[in-house]
Amino acid sequence: MKVAVIGCGTIANSAHIPSYMNNKDAEIKYFCDIIPERAEEAVKKYGCGIAVTDYKEVLADPEIEAISVCTPNKAHSEITIAALEAGKNVLCEKPAARVYEDALKMQEAQHKHGKVLNIGVVNRFNYNVNKMKEIIDAGELGEIYHVYVSFRSHRSIPGLGGAFTDKSIAGGGVTIDWGVHFFDIVMYCCGDPKVKTVSAETFSKLGNPMEEYVYTSMWAGPPQYDGVCTVEEGVTGIIRTEGPVINFNGAWAQNIGENEMFIDFMGTKGGIRLQYGKEFTLYSTKNGMLTKTTFDTTPQDMFQNEIDSFVKCVQTGEKLPSHIDTNIITAEMMGAIYQSAETHKEVVLG
Ligand SMILES: NC(=O)c1ccc[n+]([C@@H]2O[C@H](COP(=O)([O-])OP(=O)(O)OC[C@H]3O[C@@H](n4cnc5c(N)ncnc54)[C@H](O)[C@@H]3O)[C@@H](O)[C@H]2O)c1
Repeated sequence: MKVAVIGCGTIANSAHIPSYMNNKDAEIKYFCDIIPERAEEAVKKYGCGIAVTDYKEVLADPEIEAISVCTPNKAHSEITIAALEAGKNVLCEKPAARVYEDALKMQEAQHKHGKVLNIGVVNRFNYNVNKMKEIIDAGELGEIYHVYVSFRSHRSIPGLGGAFTDKSIAGGGVTIDWGVHFFDIVMYCCGDPKVKTVSAETFSKLGNPMEEYVYTSMWAGPPQYDGVCTVEEGVTGIIRTEGPVINFNGAWAQNIGENEMFIDFMGTKGGIRLQYGKEFTLYSTKNGMLTKTTFDTTPQDMFQNEIDSFVKCVQTGEKLPSHIDTNIITAEMMGAIYQSAETHKEVVLG
């Protein structure tokens, strides 16, 4: 199966490209990046493919069956919709789009053209997350009535002044960048409960003025002081659903001692703390005793699982848990979080 990678930056080089290279059914025919050197560098590094700068050239090639969209958020919807119209199958990095309305247009295009559209909600391909979901589905937590989500870092604003902190490119800050993964895990594991209301506040306190932000290292860096920081670095709020109440506290940067990256699922029979990207612990009772069980498995490459599943589903037509239909809800939730923060009012959905 001939594939193309659009956008040859960090996630393409750390996850998509190596995973396609390891997949015996896939062959990368194009590396596409608006920065020509990045596409050329990929051709040299991986020893295959053609370097191009215009994704439309890729879409015009009838041999291409599938593409990965690994560009900044702003370009996700345009490239994805054009690819679906051209009859290509798409794996688009998360978040689906910069704003909810664009995510809806992507979903519409998928329904109209019938090709695959999966979003890069890679935790759905994480073994620990799936093991945890199995335990929840088996009823071991009883009724999950409350979920607490913490995605907080001490100093982790990415590439200050670049694409990640420019609202016109990224659509938002930590909510859309990290929150999307956490909300997706919650919805996936709690059976996609209908969302009723969203109330949130966002914070932009530490990223401006940019020169005064103190840090030791910066991913997606270095700072570009001629750019802007127009997104939130912090967020908090509460979401009422027909299932659990979800409250959350997220920050790329916050004056706290250490990173706090976890989700607590609180149920009537038991609770689980998932350490993001790591193990989880089940707290319960048995024969009148309190029990604590930690599940951890041999680390698996969830990105490899994601790409392998994508390649397979293009061949079989199987609908994966990362299909646009399953995560349009998180796009809607994030849209409501931003709306609530802007208006300082609760947003009622549905
Ligand atoms: N799944 C994950 O855990 C995860 C992790 C990191 C990033 N991401 C997502 O991946 C996307 C890219 O992030 P990144 O960190 O790799 O960014 P990056 O800036 O390192 O790479 C993006 C690349 O896209 C190129 N590009 C921009 N517009 C383009 C266009 N129209 N056509 C072709 N190329 C274009 C840029 O020149 C750049 O090389 C973002 O949406 C981000 O949210 C997901």
